[in-house]
Amino acid sequence: MSGVLVTGGTGKTGKALVQELRDAGVPTRPAGRTPAAADPDAIRFDWSDPATYGPALDGMDRVFLLPPVESVDPMPLVEPFLRQAQRAGVQRLVMLGSAIVLPNAPSAVEMAAQVQAQPGGVVLRASGFMQNFLRPHPLAERIHRHGEIRSAAGDGRVGWVDVRDVAAGAAALLADLGVDARSDYLITGPHGMSYPQAAQIITARTGRQVRVERVTEEEQAAAYRGAGMPTGFATALAAVERGIEEGREDHVSTAVLELTGRPPRAFAEFVADHMYEWTR
Ligand SMILES: NC(=O)c1ccc[n+]([C@@H]2O[C@H](COP(=O)([O-])OP(=O)(O)OC[C@H]3O[C@@H](n4cnc5c(N)ncnc54)[C@H](OP(=O)(O)O)[C@@H]3O)[C@@H](O)[C@H]2O)c1
Repeated sequence: MSGVLVTGGTGKTGKALVQELRDAGVPTRPAGRTPAAADPDAIRFDWSDPATYGPALDGMDRVFLLPPVESVDPMPLVEPFLRQAQRAGVQRLVMLGSAIVLPNAPSAVEMAAQVQAQPGGVVLRASGFMQNFLRPHPLAERIHRHGEIRSAAGDGRVGWVDVRDVAAGAAALLADLGVDARSDYLITGPHGMSYPQAAQIITARTGRQVRVERVTEEEQAAAYRGAGMPTGFATALAAVERGIEEGREDHVSTAVLELTGRPPRAFAEFVADHMYEWTR
């Protein structure tokens, strides 16, 4: 049997990817800690339980790899998984990485290099997700409750991308092993956008007033900790906003168009598709 193991198969990107692959008739195995009982192909997979790696990989020749989330040092778990994937004969392994590297997480770079050293290893460096503007993401919760975005990023811009386009790009690489693949893709939306611009677009499209409260990096880290994030992760995420303010994350690419044959969605289109989020 051959097919695609989708780790994080119950998450935002994974779910959209599973749908894309199944629509294309590709045998697909969604994996997560609580597999859907109604899906006979879904399988239990837990990064903290290496005994689940083998059964998840069994018979699969392609893998979508969602590394352990909210971890600043995922390598001790990912490394044995990569070894098992290679032994299992996986021919293409597409990892969802981030265009923004957390300042205190150098292992993200090491992990990308290890994935690229695998047979058919590909890293997708995805820009900020537009879906962060949907609940339950804390950014969206704050907009919903207070009509406010708290940001330490000033007018710095990010090439926000719709998760549906990330999934479509991954599907193009995983549906057909015959597709030529580079080892690295920067996956972005069509243009850079700052938080003040995002607030303006939401207000203009939906009528919901959204304002930006400018905070310091330290205040942002404290807010993330208050929301329950581990300290190291909260500090790193807040520091990312300084990089955005300094213009270091203002990149756009043509990768979605190259991979899928159609341009990525713009933020205004994303907002129009999720009107329920801002209208009552
Ligand atoms: N948000 C952004 O702006 C952004 C931008 C670029 C890249 N990224 C990257 O995108 C990734 C998140 O992707 P997403 O938003 O699609 O995911 P998500 O919606 O947050 O879902 C997380 C997935 O991981 C699974 N998971 C959580 N803990 C697990 C564990 N211990 N073992 C196995 N599976 C586990 C969850 O499944 P279960 O709960 O069912 O186990 C779920 O399927 C992160 O790695 C992040 O770095 C995010």
